[in-house]
Amino acid sequence: SGEKKKKIGAKVELVLLGDSGVGKSCIVLRFVRGQFDPTSKVTVGASFLSQTIALQDSTTVKFEIWDTAGQERYAALAPLYYRGAAVAVVVYDITSPDSFNKAQYWVKLQKHGSPDIVMALVGNKADLHEKREVPAQDGIEYAEKNGMFFIETSAKTADNINQLFEEIAKRLP
Ligand code: GTP
Ligand code: MG
Repeated sequence: SGEKKKKIGAKVELVLLGDSGVGKSCIVLRFVRGQFDPTSKVTVGASFLSQTIALQDSTTVKFEIWDTAGQERYAALAPLYYRGAAVAVVVYDITSPDSFNKAQYWVKLQKHGSPDIVMALVGNKADLHEKREVPAQDGIEYAEKNGMFFIETSAKTADNINQLFEEIAKRLP
């Protein structure tokens, strides 16, 4: 179909947003290199990586990923990252209700983005289930209300990391 043709070799600018320490850089490292770094350093400014995935219909999507810094001092840059992004992935840590509240702030900045932006909400560190403080249901409901795709991931175990990007690719306009 025409839609399939459009996707071949498509470049998709994706931005990762969320509080410092939720695991944005680890998600990217897992997706791009298949690695996990338990001593991951805070991101300064932003870092850029790209990764191409093949979809089941044998088309490909090249994600151009902006891994942004979550520290408070960079908050003023967030509206800028929305500009030109086809996809925004807002990440929180399932062991941190504070990071879930902050995620909602980043979601609201969506107004600076394109009207057809694909929005994903990610509850990361799902491997720490014994320390969970944000029920999956809270993420599901918030995402549904805001027209977002929702998934819980673990950059540590790799659980749902590829699925996150595959599901995003399926939702591209
Ligand atoms: P900023 O760059 O400051 O915005 O933080 P960030 O969101 O990029 O966090 P980062 O990826 O650097 O991860 C922060 C810490 O969480 C590191 O110690 C990681 O090892 C740990 N971490 C990241 N993802 C996971 C995960 O899925 N499970 C567990 N258990 N730890 C994780
Ligand atoms: Mg980082």
